Amino acid sequence: CGIVACILKDGSAAPVLLECVRRLEYRGYDSVGIATSDPMIRIKKDSGKIDEVDAELDLADLPGSMGIAHVRWATHGLPTAENAHPHTDCSGEIAVVHNGIIENYLEVKEELESEGHIFRSETDTEVIPHLIEKYMDEGMDLEAATATALRKLRGAYAIAVVSSREPGRIVGARKESPLIVGVGEGEYFLASDVPAILNHTSRVIYLDDGEMVILDGDLRVTDMEGNTVEKEIHSIDWSADMAEKGGYDHFMLKEIHEEPSAVRDTLTEWDEVLGVVEEIGEVERICFVACGTSYHASLVGKYLFEGLLGIPTDVILASEFRYSAGALNDRTLAIFISQSGETADTLNALRAANSRAKTLAIVNVLGSSATREAQHVLYTRAGPEIGVAATKTYVSQLTVIYMLVAAMGAPELMDRLGRVPEFMERALKDEDGIRELAATCSDVSDFFFIGRGFAYPTALEGALKLKEITYIHGEGYAAGELKHGPLALIDNGVPVVAISPPGPCHDKTLSNVEEVRARGARVIGVGSISDESLRKEADDFIGLDPEVDDVISPLVYIVPLQLLSYHVSVERGLDPDKPKNLAKCVTVE
Ligand code: G6P
Repeated sequence: CGIVACILKDGSAAPVLLECVRRLEYRGYDSVGIATSDPMIRIKKDSGKIDEVDAELDLADLPGSMGIAHVRWATHGLPTAENAHPHTDCSGEIAVVHNGIIENYLEVKEELESEGHIFRSETDTEVIPHLIEKYMDEGMDLEAATATALRKLRGAYAIAVVSSREPGRIVGARKESPLIVGVGEGEYFLASDVPAILNHTSRVIYLDDGEMVILDGDLRVTDMEGNTVEKEIHSIDWSADMAEKGGYDHFMLKEIHEEPSAVRDTLTEWDEVLGVVEEIGEVERICFVACGTSYHASLVGKYLFEGLLGIPTDVILASEFRYSAGALNDRTLAIFISQSGETADTLNALRAANSRAKTLAIVNVLGSSATREAQHVLYTRAGPEIGVAATKTYVSQLTVIYMLVAAMGAPELMDRLGRVPEFMERALKDEDGIRELAATCSDVSDFFFIGRGFAYPTALEGALKLKEITYIHGEGYAAGELKHGPLALIDNGVPVVAISPPGPCHDKTLSNVEEVRARGARVIGVGSISDESLRKEADDFIGLDPEVDDVISPLVYIVPLQLLSYHVSVERGLDPDKPKNLAKCVTVE
């Protein structure tokens, strides 16, 4: 979910809230709502994407120069109008937007119901305005009532609250869900992330867990006991343009085309990488922890650390970490990879590891939770990524991992890394061919991606991209493992993407290609442009620069696979930026 709030000097808040909340739509898009106060609270909300709800309700048409807004990704209760935020108390005088989960909401709800409160939704959030109402009825002001309410709740939240009983004031608070404060000229904003408000200000305060902010023509940050906390104002150098589509049809396509510059920008972090490696000191074992695409970047890390440096390396899915990470100690470096820095599974694993191992977070979002909890932090410099399916953040994560390996003992990697942006640019030039290929395989029901060694994580990531945005069943497999099961699924015409860069695995992968071809598969070969043997075996062929060997192939070979999924998705009439049931940032376990 995503929240925003604003309090303007003059003018109408609703159009501003609508514009800001559109930039948060990637955080959830099953319902949307806006409340303004003038001082009476007025609300428009419904289930559906922002454009649909706006067409029906005209969301910008609300009076008042302050308000709150929300885009929802359902966790408690179906995406319906009743469950859409903002939620109010019984009197309709207090409105709240919330991102996170209140774990003890059922018991609080029962208690409030027994005191006469009437609930209208199935959400956990609705207990918040009712609790605030209860404490305001007992004589507290909005700030004290909000703090008292939050002390009673367990779970994660970023909230913004307005009340007609205290006109001209917004109260925000955060615990384990992101919330930033935008500081304009006599105007203030709250938002789940920075791009949401970049059109209005680039000056930002990062709230910490357990902090509240009171906006009322002035700005005050406090702890939950009401003590003032001094905060630094950061200047953000991302422009609002960087968070927009820049002429491309979709964010995802723009972000794929930004990959060369994302890698270039990330390579400028070399001094930071050297610094972190020195701080960390001796390491006997590496343990990567991540989810989704970040997990696939971690798998490449295993091949690098073990293959090039001989350091034993595990890769653990963050959601499995508490069941399988027995062997951490102070000579283990646990590396947490997360583009958002807010993934609940990854943060929980990080918290558990902090007391047992050295921890390093590799993150794309400045000031996100992971960056504040890990002992060491390195940033990817991908800029904001809006498409739900990770693309430029993936190659930026890989870049940092390669730099780490270079800094820890394989400096020769740096020269090859320096050429990656140029190899990617060449790969992007072949987009027309990939679009044509996509048109011929957009109506299949299954896809396989196979590779060995460094190409194996690429196969997994290629399949994940396909699943995420085309809804076609895609399976990534180690090429040598095919014969132990999935070969039974290969029939006439089933596309098998064979990823086979030049290197020691090449010939063995080719044998596996022959196996699937003999069963009727349609082979899509991805290899060096001068690889005649693969080209001969393949029905379709995607050729990449011959200088890209298997070791750096994960950075370059993923580019055509991302483009393939993108164009299949468009061919199928889908919206690749907003795949159904998925969210960019998953703040629930
Ligand atoms: C979600 C996103 C994926 C992402 C994963 C991990 O599922 O849709 O694209 O790979 O979360 O996110 P993180 O922010 O931790 O990298």
